[in-house]
Amino acid sequence: MHKDIAEILVSELEIKEICESLGKEITNDYKDKNPILVGLLKGCIPFMSDLSKKIELKVDIAYMSVSSYHGGINSSGDVKIKMDLDIPIHDRHVLIIEDIVDTGNTIVTIVELLMHRGAKSVEIVTLLDKPEGRLKPYEPKYIGRTIPKAFVVGYGLDYDEYYRNLPYVGILDPKVYSKKESN
Ligand code: PRP
Repeated sequence: MHKDIAEILVSELEIKEICESLGKEITNDYKDKNPILVGLLKGCIPFMSDLSKKIELKVDIAYMSVSSYHGGINSSGDVKIKMDLDIPIHDRHVLIIEDIVDTGNTIVTIVELLMHRGAKSVEIVTLLDKPEGRLKPYEPKYIGRTIPKAFVVGYGLDYDEYYRNLPYVGILDPKVYSKKESN
């Protein structure tokens, strides 16, 4: 285990099982729907990669780059679109792939935007759901694991851009950020 991780919350094996089970469910639910899988960069990358391989359907894959954390441990509430989709979504079934839903700021903003652009449906699959962090009500349709209110990193999730490459999700040792966040 990495020295900055206080506890492993979702192991590599659990992540593999989550991808297999959600992949099956999504394959079944989206039969004949040719969905667009929309990954929200950058955190979605490992989950998008592993989950999409378990979805046995004809799918389009697209990415958007959005950010609301701007480096700290708390959401700024200000969701910035840094890179938009490169394919039209009008009349299409969209499945957004997220690493985590926390305050709900990101997902509520993006769902509203994509519905406004004429998507036929917009649903979310998130590896992690942190309902205690919610500031805007939103319940993702597909959830890998519900987690407690702790700052987690790994498997796409970062603190100051680090730890995204850990193969598991873990609670970041507060000593890593407590000094910086109190300044
Ligand atoms: C993270 C994460 C989600 C969002 C969830 O992204 O990937 O998109 O925050 O938090 P919320 O529910 O409080 O909005 P971030 O803005 O840190 O960008 P990143 O994916 O590039 O790390």
